[in-house]
Amino acid sequence: MCGIVGYIGPKKALPILISSLERLEYRGYDSSGIACISEKGDRGVYTIKEQGKLGRLKSKLNGALLDGHVGIGHTRWATHGEPSERNAHPHQDCSKKFALVHNGIIENYAELKHELQRKGHHFRSETDTEVAVHLIEEYFERCRNVFEAFQKAVIRMQGFFAFVLTTSHDPDAIYVFKRSNPLVIGVGNGENFVASDAPAILSYTNRMIYLDDNEMARVTADRTEVFRLGEKNPRRKPVVRIKWNMRQAEKDGFPHFMLKEIHEQPQVVDTILKERLRGNRIFFDSISKKTEKRLSRISKIHLVSCGTAYHAGLVGKYMLSECARLPVDASVSSEFRYEDPVVDERDLVIFITQSGETADTLAALRAAKEKKAFTLAIVNVVGSTIAREADCVIYTHAGPEIGVASTKAYLAQLTVLALFALYLGKLRGKLSSGQMREYINWLLKLPRQIEETLRQDKAVKQCARKLYTKRNFLYLGRGYNFPNALEGALKLKEITYAHAHGYAAGEMKHGPIALIDSEQPVICISPAAKTYEKMISNIQEIEARKGIVVSVATVGDQTIKKLSRFLFLIPETKEMLSSILAVIPLQLFAYYVAVFNKRDVDQPRNLAKSVTVE
Ligand code: G6P
Repeated sequence: MCGIVGYIGPKKALPILISSLERLEYRGYDSSGIACISEKGDRGVYTIKEQGKLGRLKSKLNGALLDGHVGIGHTRWATHGEPSERNAHPHQDCSKKFALVHNGIIENYAELKHELQRKGHHFRSETDTEVAVHLIEEYFERCRNVFEAFQKAVIRMQGFFAFVLTTSHDPDAIYVFKRSNPLVIGVGNGENFVASDAPAILSYTNRMIYLDDNEMARVTADRTEVFRLGEKNPRRKPVVRIKWNMRQAEKDGFPHFMLKEIHEQPQVVDTILKERLRGNRIFFDSISKKTEKRLSRISKIHLVSCGTAYHAGLVGKYMLSECARLPVDASVSSEFRYEDPVVDERDLVIFITQSGETADTLAALRAAKEKKAFTLAIVNVVGSTIAREADCVIYTHAGPEIGVASTKAYLAQLTVLALFALYLGKLRGKLSSGQMREYINWLLKLPRQIEETLRQDKAVKQCARKLYTKRNFLYLGRGYNFPNALEGALKLKEITYAHAHGYAAGEMKHGPIALIDSEQPVICISPAAKTYEKMISNIQEIEARKGIVVSVATVGDQTIKKLSRFLFLIPETKEMLSSILAVIPLQLFAYYVAVFNKRDVDQPRNLAKSVTVE
C-alpha cells in the first residue's frame, strides 16, 4: 500500500527520496510523486508526479528543478480516484505553499470537501488526501502557525492515516502525523528521514523513532520533536537501533526477492530454533512469569490473521489442539473484528502478522483487548504497531520480506507456532518430557530438511514448464496440509494470475470432483500422516478421471510415485511439522509458473505487501 518517504538535511533530497521510494516499491503502487523545497528565490514547494512505475517518474524528473535539501515522496495504491497523475501524491493546497503525502483513508472527506469548497477552495483531484492539505491551508490562514494548523486539521479528520507535510511557510522542517498507519523517523547525523517502514531508509540509518498513534512531530535536520495530539510539550521518545542490514533487503544475486526469500528459509528456521531452544526447554524472552501464570489458566485460543498469515493460523490451530489440548479457533481478521467475537479474560487471542500493520488485524487486536482477552502477537517487523499494542509479542525474526507473496515469513510463523504449541502443552501438563524431546529432535532436523527440500527445485521447474499455460489449478490436502492447499493456491493466484482453488481433500466429492478431466492439474499434498490412506483414495479418484496428478509426498513413497504424473519429495518428519516442509515445493511451483508466464513476481498487479487500509 502507499509508501511515504521524507528527507531533511545537508544533502540533495531528490536522490535520497528516489532510492527510498525504490525500496518501498515492494509494497505495491500505481503512481508516484515527489515534492521538494526549492533552494532558490522564494523557497517554494515544487512537485512532480507520474502514473505507473517509478521509472516513469524518474524520466520526468530529468531536468526538473528539484534541487532542495528538504523533500517528501510517495508511491500511491489507489483507493479514492483512479490511478493517474492528477490523483498521485503529493497534493497541494490552493496557494501551493503546502505539499502533503498520505497513507490511509480520511473517512469524513466528502463532508470536509463540501465545507472547503463552500469556502472557495479549488480541488484538482478525486482523492480524500487533497482535503487534508486544503484544511491545513484553511487553518493556517487563520492562525499563521504551521504546527497549529496541522494539528487543528488532523483533529477534524476521521479515519486512519499517516501524513507527511512540507511547506514554504516553514521550509526548514517537515511535519508528520500518525494514526494507525505506519510511520517511522530515521535519525541520522545532522539529517533526518521519514518512511513508511524502516527498510526504506536503512541504507542511511538504523536508528529509528517509532511514532505511536495520534503523535505528530516537527522534524528538522538536527532535531525531532514529538507531540501527542492536543499537547503543547514534546515527549521523550526512545531511539531504537534495528538489527536488519541492507544485504537482507537486496536480491543478492537472485533474479527475484521471492526466490531469494524461499532460499533463506533454512537459515530463518535455524535462527528461530537457536534463539528459542535451550536443550529440551522452549524459551520466549517476552513471556514473563506473570504472563506464564495467565497462559496456564486460559480456556480457549483464537488465532486471527489475514492472507498467508491466516493459513499459518489454520496450521497453528492443529498444532495447538494437538499439544495444548484446548479448543482453538482460527479466523480471518476482517471477519473476527466485525462478528462481536465471544471472547473474555479467560481467552488467549493470537494475532499473526508479518508486517505488524495490517489494518484488519490491528482492528481485531483492539476489539479483543476491549473484551479483556489476553493478546499475543506473532510478528516479523520489530516495533510495528501490532507488536507494540499486544500484551505480549513473539518476534519471528525472519528478516525483511520484500516479495509481495509471503514465503519465509510463513515458514517462520509456522515454526514459532510449533514452538509455542509445545511450550503451552508443557505448561499445561499435556506433554511429557519424553514427548517434548521427540518433537524437539524433529524440529532440530528442520533446517537441513528444508535445504534438502529446496533441492526439488529442478523437478518443480520441469513440472511448471509443462503446466504453466493452464488457467485452473486445484490443490488438495488434509489435516496439517489442508491449510497448505489453501496457501499453495494463494501463492499461485497472487503471482501467476491463474485461478487456483485450495480444498480439504475430504470435500472433493462435494463439488470439486466435477472439475476433473484430462486438462485439470490437481496438486495433492500427501506426506506421511494419519490421513495418508484417505489421500491415496482421493488421488485414485482423480486418476480414474484422467486428471493431472501432481503430488507432494514423503521420500520413498512408491505408491504415490506410481499414481502421479509429477512428484515432489520431502524428507520424513513428524506430522505436525510436515506443513513446514510440504509448502516449499508449492512456493517454488508458483514461482516458476509465474516466471514462465513472464509475470512481475515480486510486485504482482493490484497487490500490496502491507495492507494498511481496510
Ligand atoms: C497482504 C500480503 C500477504 C500477507 C497479508 C497479511 O495480502 O500481500 O502476503 O499474507 O497481507 O499481511 P501481514 O503483514 O498481516 O502478515
